Amino acid sequence: MTNSDGFEIKDPALADLGHTRIMWAWQEMPVLRELSERFSRQRPLQGIRMSGCLHITTETANLARVLKSAGADIVLCASNPLSTQDDVAAALVERYEIPVYAIRGETGEEYYRHINAALDHRPILTMDDGADLVSEIHKSRTELIPDMLGGTEETTTGVIRLRAMAREGALKIPVIAVNDAMTKHLFDNRYGTGQSTLDGVIRATNILLAGKTFTVAGYGWCGRGVAMRAKGHGASVVVTEVAPLRALEAAMDGFRVMPLVDAARQSDFIITVTGDKHVVDRSHFEVMKDGCILANAGHFNVEINIPALEAMAVSKQRPRESVDEYTLSDGRRLCLLAEGRLVNLAAAEGHPSAVMDMSFANQVLCAVYLASQDHKLEIGVHNVPDEIDHEVAQLKLAAMNIRIDKLTDEQARYLSSWKEGT
Ligand SMILES: NC(=O)c1ccc[n+]([C@@H]2O[C@H](COP(=O)([O-])OP(=O)(O)OC[C@H]3O[C@@H](n4cnc5c(N)ncnc54)[C@H](O)[C@@H]3O)[C@@H](O)[C@H]2O)c1
Repeated sequence: MTNSDGFEIKDPALADLGHTRIMWAWQEMPVLRELSERFSRQRPLQGIRMSGCLHITTETANLARVLKSAGADIVLCASNPLSTQDDVAAALVERYEIPVYAIRGETGEEYYRHINAALDHRPILTMDDGADLVSEIHKSRTELIPDMLGGTEETTTGVIRLRAMAREGALKIPVIAVNDAMTKHLFDNRYGTGQSTLDGVIRATNILLAGKTFTVAGYGWCGRGVAMRAKGHGASVVVTEVAPLRALEAAMDGFRVMPLVDAARQSDFIITVTGDKHVVDRSHFEVMKDGCILANAGHFNVEINIPALEAMAVSKQRPRESVDEYTLSDGRRLCLLAEGRLVNLAAAEGHPSAVMDMSFANQVLCAVYLASQDHKLEIGVHNVPDEIDHEVAQLKLAAMNIRIDKLTDEQARYLSSWKEGT
């Protein structure tokens, strides 16, 4: 539904359901609650026009509420055509007066129309998950650049794109790589993607994992989490890698490591989390077992070569929501989940709120930091300031009622000197 006041959502009548679910998530987000209290008094984002291109989930709704209570004038669009929770979009518009341009299942053309609608807001601060706003600004909305304070980026793939822009001299604003904060990727990418990817695979298929061969392509922060959780379900886990260090780490963590073409012959499940393109390709489809389940938890839907699979298939049917079963000419069936899009968001609800609490606390603090710099931050990709990372860890520990020890003066002196030996 479109409105001249500026929003495009599926159905405003879903707002009550969305609101109830947003409040449920809020209970698990103590760090954001603390920041909300602080910043609704201080209003450090007063009058700042912001556009966020994020997965429209209950957690993102709480992030947007906190930014608004800090004074921001914020609009949102989706960062993936299949990750929008339509009830949340409705609640944001109806209950919180935050314009949203996002409908689950939107086409590619609608997706970019929504991004441009969010840019019509003339943001001076952007918040991206995958760098689509920043990329669109630099490609076709360059008139926005002179007024911009900068942006923040949530995910690994977005940071990779921004660094590529910076290397080529194409990036014209400062952007903070929120993904690279310790309190983001150590927890969100590992425990968040770990749990929610398994959740997506299980919700989509309801197939028992115990005793199955479960292959994880990519042993980065997300891959470690997915492999760890699949092992916990009793699956026999195989890891494939292209980086020797990561492969070695996977082997020493107790996983079998081999080339994907070997893993493909024996896998019941293959999950990609690499941020790379065509990791699962024709040569792999050719040797897979009948019934192999394929899913992706990396940012874009390019990790599994879907056009090649489509070309090899003689028929395709949808036995369950989120499952496309492709039959090949030799009769083997391969099942692709969630059209190769982020399975944890498209077939489940994305990361648990408790982990997004930390990622989004970083986002709020970085937005406040960018605003406080008032155009003084250099153009380029910046790390999250250490103080912010430490503050988020401290706030989370306090919220979890976990106390830790403090260095004594003697220990502090010892750790900063070189003179004391054996
Ligand atoms: N689903 C989600 O909610 C979610 C959350 C966070 C990040 N992500 C996305 O997941 C992807 C991975 O993120 P990360 O933080 O784990 O990145 P990372 O850089 O830590 O790890 C990626 C790993 O993939 C490996 N790799 C690259 N090409 C490969 C190939 N052809 N075969 C096997 N391995 C290969 C790399 O060597 C690396 O070890 C990114 O696209 C990121 O944006 C998704």
